[in-house]
Amino acid sequence: MRLLVLLWGCLLLPGYEALEGPKEISGFEGDTVSLQCTYREELRDHRKYWCRKGGFLLSRCSGTIYAGEEGQETTKGRVSIRDSHQELSLIVTLWNLTLQDAGKYWCGVDKRGLDESLLISLFVFPDEGLRLQETK
Ligand SMILES: *[C@@H]1O[C@H](CO)[C@@H](O)[C@H](O)[C@H]1NC(C)=O
Repeated sequence: MRLLVLLWGCLLLPGYEALEGPKEISGFEGDTVSLQCTYREELRDHRKYWCRKGGFLLSRCSGTIYAGEEGQETTKGRVSIRDSHQELSLIVTLWNLTLQDAGKYWCGVDKRGLDESLLISLFVFPDEGLRLQETK
C-alpha cells in the first residue's frame, strides 16, 4: 500500500515546484472536467498516477490509476489519464461527476524515496436543473 506522508511543502526549497496544477477544481453533477498537472522535465520518464486521498493521520491513496505508455489514455471507471511528454503534463479527465466524487485527490509521480505529489480539491455542486432551463 502506498503511503504518502505529508512532508510535502516542508522539505522543499523555496521556488521548487516539481508539480504544478490547479489547487481546486469544480463542476456540476454530471459534468466532465479536465485538468493538467505539469511536471518538471527530470520527471518525464517516471510513472505518473492519480488517486483519491484517504486516511486520517497517515494519508494514503485509494483508487489509484496509473498512466500507461506516453500519449496513451488509460481509463478506470470514470477517470481517464494520459501522460504527455511533449507538454510535460499529466492530463486527467473526470467523467460524469457525482456528488460522492467531491474530495481531495493527488496527481503523483513515482520517485525513489518520497513521491512528488500535488493535492487537488474537487468540489461538485448539485445539478438543480439550471442548465436545462438555459437550453429552453
Ligand atoms: C458518461 O455518461 C454518458 C451519458 O450517460 C455515457 O454515455 C458515458 O459512457 C459515461 N462515461 C463514462 C466514462 O462513464
